[in-house]
Amino acid sequence: MNILVTGGAGYIGSITCVQLIEAGHRPVILDSLVNAKAAVLGRIAQVSGIQPSFMEGDVRNKALLVQVLHDHKIDAVIHFAGLKAVGESVDHPLRYYDNNVQGTLVLIDAMNQVGVKTLVFSSSATVYAPSHDMPLHEASVKGASSPYGRSKWMVEEILADVVASDPSWSMTALRYFNPVGAHPSGLMGEDPQGVPNNLMPFIAQLAVGQRSVLRVFGNDYETPDGTGVRDYIHVMDLADGHLAALQHAHGRAGHHVFNLGSGQGHSVLEMLATFAQACGKSLLHEFAPRRSGDLAAFWADASLAEKVLGWRVRRSLQAMCEDTWRWQSQNPKGYTS
Ligand code: NAD
Ligand code: WQD
Repeated sequence: MNILVTGGAGYIGSITCVQLIEAGHRPVILDSLVNAKAAVLGRIAQVSGIQPSFMEGDVRNKALLVQVLHDHKIDAVIHFAGLKAVGESVDHPLRYYDNNVQGTLVLIDAMNQVGVKTLVFSSSATVYAPSHDMPLHEASVKGASSPYGRSKWMVEEILADVVASDPSWSMTALRYFNPVGAHPSGLMGEDPQGVPNNLMPFIAQLAVGQRSVLRVFGNDYETPDGTGVRDYIHVMDLADGHLAALQHAHGRAGHHVFNLGSGQGHSVLEMLATFAQACGKSLLHEFAPRRSGDLAAFWADASLAEKVLGWRVRRSLQAMCEDTWRWQSQNPKGYTS
């Protein structure tokens, strides 16, 4: 299939493009490069042997979308493009609603005009309400706690409404848990700007000496070792989840929602110890107060994706750390090096 991949120069999108190419599809990337570097395109080519077509542009540009959908005879769209920093979304909510919600509206409008009716959307576990009732399954109570999370939930509801109004659409929302890891080649991975907010990129920068100490946010949670527990998913498994979703969605109209997670929780200290083993260094940490807005623990019930898509994670926490270490140690400055 010819697949339009919005946000395909980003962390998850670029690695998904490699997996799409390896499965015989033709990805076409549209990305504004607001949070990505053009150098990733050469890496996709280096890893997969094929450099996908790339358009630098914004998903809110309808004319450009119509042209790309038409000219490349697009069969389906995977929509990664969006802003994803939770804290920034609190400070700049309109920027998030405009980019994430309005961007999706324009995309759907353009797809409708050209007659492309299959969309796979990057949603997030942040759409769920805080709960002690684990694991989270697709029907668990919703209640995002940031403008970012609400933008994802709004889009999910819009997708459902569009399908209800026109059953020829196939709309799939994939709720990612905590994506980490890198391509096993060490050539592609996460390249955050500034000080990373997320645990894994912070630990990776600590391991190459760019950070001095990991601040562990809270050691008094009701978890086995007192630190926060999350469902980390290897980005390669996540990319494979998109292929499974695409295969399921194409030619099958309706509204579909799947959790993509491992179904298992790991603590901050467990992650740190596994990374230390992977890089062969001891990594300094100190305990700090809880981070505002953090939950003690959450993980996915990923059984629906296994049942319906035939997909489940195959890569361990050890593989997540080893692959991240390979990427970070070979590219300490990310795609600029
Ligand atoms: P990323 O920032 O690396 O990738 C997003 C890409 O979209 C970037 O390349 C950026 O330049 C591009 N982009 C942003 N706004 C755009 C616009 N208006 N037009 C065109 N391109 C635009 O992020 P990622 O981690 O690869 O995440 C991909 C998607 O998955 C996002 O929608 C994100 O919200 C979602 N998601 C990510 C996580 C995570 O922890 N990484 C978890 C759940 C959901
Ligand atoms: C994981 C654990 C922290 C950094 C966020 C977004 C969410 C989703 C994924 C997009 C927690 C602890 C972290 C540090 C620490 N993205 N930690 N020291 O918060 O589960 O989710 O990313 O949809 O929307 O909110 O992930 O990696 O930030 O934190 O102790 O320096 O690591 O407290 O327990 P989180 P995270």
